[in-house]
Amino acid sequence: DEPFVPNDVYLCNKDAQIIILTGPNMAGKSTYLRQVALIVLMAQIGSFVPARQATIGLVDRIFTRVGAQDDIATGQSTFMVEMVETALILHHATPRSLIILDEIGRGTSTYDGLAIARAVVEYIHNHPRLGAKTLFATHYHELTELAKSLPRVRNFNVAVAEEGDRVIFLRKIVAGGADRSYGIHVAQLAGLPRTVIHRAQEVLEELEKDEQGRGRKERLRQQMAQAQLPLFAAEEKNPVLEELRSLPIAEMSPLEAINKLYELQQKAMTK
Ligand SMILES: Nc1ncnc2c1ncn2[C@@H]1O[C@H](COP(=O)(O)OP(=O)(O)OP(=O)(O)O)[C@@H](O)[C@H]1O
Ligand SMILES: [Mg+2]
Repeated sequence: DEPFVPNDVYLCNKDAQIIILTGPNMAGKSTYLRQVALIVLMAQIGSFVPARQATIGLVDRIFTRVGAQDDIATGQSTFMVEMVETALILHHATPRSLIILDEIGRGTSTYDGLAIARAVVEYIHNHPRLGAKTLFATHYHELTELAKSLPRVRNFNVAVAEEGDRVIFLRKIVAGGADRSYGIHVAQLAGLPRTVIHRAQEVLEELEKDEQGRGRKERLRQQMAQAQLPLFAAEEKNPVLEELRSLPIAEMSPLEAINKLYELQQKAMTK
């Protein structure tokens, strides 16, 4: 009973070639992807399209990778199906194609998935045979960083408003990347037991704390490494070390060696 919220789209091989679409669960990412694919398809068959105004070029194919399904009959796991379809797209798309990718990489572990997703976007952007117009919906918020290094990548997200604990879906596509998924909120809407929701919230907080802690630890480690540099530099000029370096050990007798070692130790202790 919620009225449909219309959204614009602008894709162009020369500047806005790839749209990375982020936004909370249930916000309307997949809907937007399907809207664009359907309008392009309708235009190709000469149909009117449900838009106030549209300029649509010819496409040679519309490639889609949407949904997660396994194919037990042919012995393919969910993730395998996802990768087989992605491979097909990357091998066959041309600059005239439209590519719709809905959450590539979600069928595997976070880092594997993120790595694959990123590599796929880079390939579509950089490969001379591709350069196809692409819509890529994802929960990997890290992918929005790509717009900084790839000139034809644009970030959009589906707007939501927060009202206390409630999340209100606005269904509007706006420029920029999202940084939260509100997945637990959606799980609550779906009717997961209250205990599970509370526990999930706790776990999420823990994980986010860990993540920040890791960031802090990493920064600390880097500062330490930098702080240690002058220390090593000072050691370079240490006369005991200098002498140690120039010792002709192979030519020394065991007695000479032990005497020298004793001498060096005395020197080191008086330093
Ligand atoms: N533009 C819109 N106007 C009105 N309702 C919408 C619009 N877009 C989406 N919705 C509603 O929101 C529901 C969820 O949208 P959709 O499946 O696109 O979300 P999503 O962002 O892909 O979520 P997920 O991250 O969980 O896949 C739709 O089934 C529809 O009811
Ligand atoms: Mg979706």
